[in-house]
Amino acid sequence: MTTTCIPVKSHLWNSVKYALIRKKNLSERTMVNYRVTIYTGNGLLANSITPVHIKLVGTEGESVFTCVWFPLFSCWETTLTISCTKSLGKLILIELVKKKYYIIPNDFWFPNKVVVTSPENDEYTFPIYSWIRDSDIHTFREGKALRIFDETSPAGSVARKQEMDLRRRKYNWKSYQVGLPFCMKEEGEYKLPLKALFSPTKFIELGFTFVTGFVRRWSEGLYDNRGNWKSIGAIANFFHPKQSSVAELVKQHWQEDWLFGYQFLNGTNPNLIKRIKTLPDNFPVTDDLICFPDNSNLHQEMEKGNIYLCDFKNLDGVPANIIDGDQQYMMAPLVLLHKRPDNNLVPIAIQLKQIPGEGNPIFLPTDSHHDWLLAKTFVRSAYFAEHQLIAHLLRTHLLAEVFVVSLLRNLPMVHPLYKLLIPHTRYTMQINLLARERLIGPNSVLSKDAAAGGPTLFKIVKRALSDTTYRSLCLPDSIADRDMKDVPNFYYLQDGGQLWGFIHGFVEGIILHYYKDDDEVQQDTELQAWIADIFKYGFLSKPESGIPERFNTPGDLIKFVTMVIFTCSAQHAAVNSGQYDYGGWMPNAPSTLRQPPPSEKWKATHVTLCETLPNKGVTGDGLGTTFLLSRPTTDFIPLGQFPEEHFTEESPRQLQDVFLNELQCLSSKIQTRNKGLRIPYTYLDPNKVENSVAI
Ligand code: FE2
Repeated sequence: MTTTCIPVKSHLWNSVKYALIRKKNLSERTMVNYRVTIYTGNGLLANSITPVHIKLVGTEGESVFTCVWFPLFSCWETTLTISCTKSLGKLILIELVKKKYYIIPNDFWFPNKVVVTSPENDEYTFPIYSWIRDSDIHTFREGKALRIFDETSPAGSVARKQEMDLRRRKYNWKSYQVGLPFCMKEEGEYKLPLKALFSPTKFIELGFTFVTGFVRRWSEGLYDNRGNWKSIGAIANFFHPKQSSVAELVKQHWQEDWLFGYQFLNGTNPNLIKRIKTLPDNFPVTDDLICFPDNSNLHQEMEKGNIYLCDFKNLDGVPANIIDGDQQYMMAPLVLLHKRPDNNLVPIAIQLKQIPGEGNPIFLPTDSHHDWLLAKTFVRSAYFAEHQLIAHLLRTHLLAEVFVVSLLRNLPMVHPLYKLLIPHTRYTMQINLLARERLIGPNSVLSKDAAAGGPTLFKIVKRALSDTTYRSLCLPDSIADRDMKDVPNFYYLQDGGQLWGFIHGFVEGIILHYYKDDDEVQQDTELQAWIADIFKYGFLSKPESGIPERFNTPGDLIKFVTMVIFTCSAQHAAVNSGQYDYGGWMPNAPSTLRQPPPSEKWKATHVTLCETLPNKGVTGDGLGTTFLLSRPTTDFIPLGQFPEEHFTEESPRQLQDVFLNELQCLSSKIQTRNKGLRIPYTYLDPNKVENSVAI
């Protein structure tokens, strides 16, 4: 037995050995190589110190994980070769695993994209643009946009489902206050997922601006100073004109009627004013009260289209805040304005409360200087509340967050709408989280400094949400409903109208590239889930808002997405960027007023005005806050620029180029026009409009 066994064993061993050699030779002959280039972001902390493992997955198979180390310097582009025994077919996705060493617990990595050239010489791009810190397997799809019914590979379908399951665990709805739009539920070590956080650069810059502002106010004795201003002139000593030429102009002219009227068109809230043909019943201005040129009267001027109304009824009946035990005052005024023959818009009558009658006089430009100025000051304070709480907080910040959270919970990275909208979501959740903690919540800036702060704030915002309509969020509809077309010197509309048109054209091109007919829109269950969540969590399922519950046609989708991008970029810029210009000089935008409104005329004096305006501490807080919130950081991304290349196909990339060219032309026109203006209107210059609600 023994003698026969030895040759048999030897024969078997040789057979195995020769088979392995043949297989090895065969493999070497058929081995195929994939050239892989990993692009890492160039921001602070973007580079990974630890190695990364990468795997390719195609329709015909997958590679093994291949390890890659990044050099410590010059590491923005790293190339490697992945060898496989056969072609993997069409590449579907990649998997990345970042090796974790416990001696380096907080090593971050921000890969931008991975580009793979196959043995067949096909190029595949995998957009990433995400922070990776853990050692989990992270899957990223190839860049070609796919709707859910375009998925043909099992690997793609599984990855799509896993991505959305993970996202829905990370991004959850939370009701911050009943009656307000839902927001992102913060939790975990950083409160928000890494992708949602400010970049380290932005954190540092905002922190620096905040700290230097605080130190300045503290060194000047403004911080927490409850002292009254003895005169308006004394406020000027603490005002720093170099920070804004517009703010300096406002300081010089804030008492003049032309600037008061101008701000309803081109100030921080251009969405309240409307042209009227009849007076509201509760604003009984009679012909005999006002003199017009050429023996005209109020009704004739209304017929000619020269009379405008600003009605602050959203603020009516809400008790003003109590600060340090002192009752504050906030009115709900009605303001009548006249377009003069020189095209300047000037106020001609002010009623500070909604219900007319005794103790609620109609103030006129012919009243005493201080009566008229005090009435305008109450309007400007109401303007502050209406602007900050409704135009700015609700209609841009809070709604933008709804659009973002719904996007992240419903649309995978490979979906065309994700690729279209993700640039307009940057930093929105983080800035809103900070706003809830520092600006609007308990013990926040507004609760300490604003008549509309504290519990008052939420009452006003809830009421405003119930009045917010889809039409009011769409610029052309809003302008038509307010009869504000062809109003001279209305630069918000001039620039905003063009921006709306360019955004609409861009969105239309993208949507029609991916959705050929109504059926494709209606069958896209992910798309329908996105709008359903917005309707439910943003507009609290109120059909009267006019917000669609679902999309039926590509046209429905184009209009809504245009509104989303316009709101997150242009509209936010229009109401955000001028905060210091028009609010830095406190008397022009007092956040609170400390005395009741005048109930009769001929009593107001300079002393009345100073006692009514906010104290020194509130003035200092306003200077610091408006400066911080009006100042872009260096990682600002202007509208139309897409440094993150989520679209990799030729057609959408060409549409992006066309869009950018249109915006650059508009920017040049605006800059040329502004050279001839007394107050340059810069807020909707595309180069100064940020892609997202980021501040
Ligand atoms: Fe903002």
